[in-house]
Amino acid sequence: MSDHLITIEATPISRINRIMQLTDDILNADDWGDVLYGKTLANLFLEPSTRSRVASELAMKHLGGTVVNLIGKESTSMEKDEELRETLGTLSQYVDVIAVRADSRISSTDLELCEVPVINMGDADGTHPTQALADLYTIRSNFPKLETLNVLVMGDCKSSRAAHSFVAICLKFGMRVACYSPKDIELPYFNRTVKEGDVILDNKATAVVDGELEAAVEAADVIYCLRFQKERNASGRIYDKSATTGTNYASRCGFKEEWLGKISRTTLIMHPSPRGDEMPKKVDKDRRAAYFQQMRNGLYVKMAILEDALLPSNVEEE
Ligand code: CP
Repeated sequence: MSDHLITIEATPISRINRIMQLTDDILNADDWGDVLYGKTLANLFLEPSTRSRVASELAMKHLGGTVVNLIGKESTSMEKDEELRETLGTLSQYVDVIAVRADSRISSTDLELCEVPVINMGDADGTHPTQALADLYTIRSNFPKLETLNVLVMGDCKSSRAAHSFVAICLKFGMRVACYSPKDIELPYFNRTVKEGDVILDNKATAVVDGELEAAVEAADVIYCLRFQKERNASGRIYDKSATTGTNYASRCGFKEEWLGKISRTTLIMHPSPRGDEMPKKVDKDRRAAYFQQMRNGLYVKMAILEDALLPSNVEEE
């Protein structure tokens, strides 16, 4: 049995490649079979979700397994102050795998009583490895070679768990990554103070604060847009659409309709969703918009993740 899947950083490339290969196999299969018949998934979703929750449930059912859903803290004994550690340990007495959308970062303490694999479906402002795997699969389906790609991430890199895992997986596969953000909502893991106009180089990722976007947009093979996470941002509230003062987020770091005529025919326009007004509706119909591909791939990748976690034939030395 495979391990937990909590962060991209802690997931070996061999496991990621195996999940990519399993996803290819699933997409090429005439019949998925009931390979997970007799297995049960618990969906523990403590924050709102549309894509991850539905795709997680369907992934298990498409492979013949069964699902129990615990949606919202109030549906669990966490409402009575039970800790996540205890809830995961309890669920693991009943089910074979647990998918978690957590409202705080998942720690090793949270996992210490759990006897089955835990799949992180996004933990607060931490990481979102299943989204990153769907994102990687989408990029891989559109580009034959990953190492030469220029990736531009735009927007609230501070609080977006999807961005954190996306940057990590892009770097793991040798892509060049630049993150453009307004001040106070820049990529956090550099862990240092950033002044306006600063450009920071670290581990092949570049974080740019309040930089000029046009040139970066034209040079990008992949443009990854992010919504403003108003639910997590006290210091960045000036970017909130409802703020009466400050900079409008969409005009500062949203995708501009006119860029459709400037970017290459092969540039991939990605977004982990949900999308706000940082992504003009007109882009939805452009064939370079990949966010619906990302959603569809999210289902197939989750099927692969479940197979990888539950089928003994997928166990490998790592
Ligand atoms: N991208 C993503 O995780 O979407 P949901 O929050 O709807 O699951």
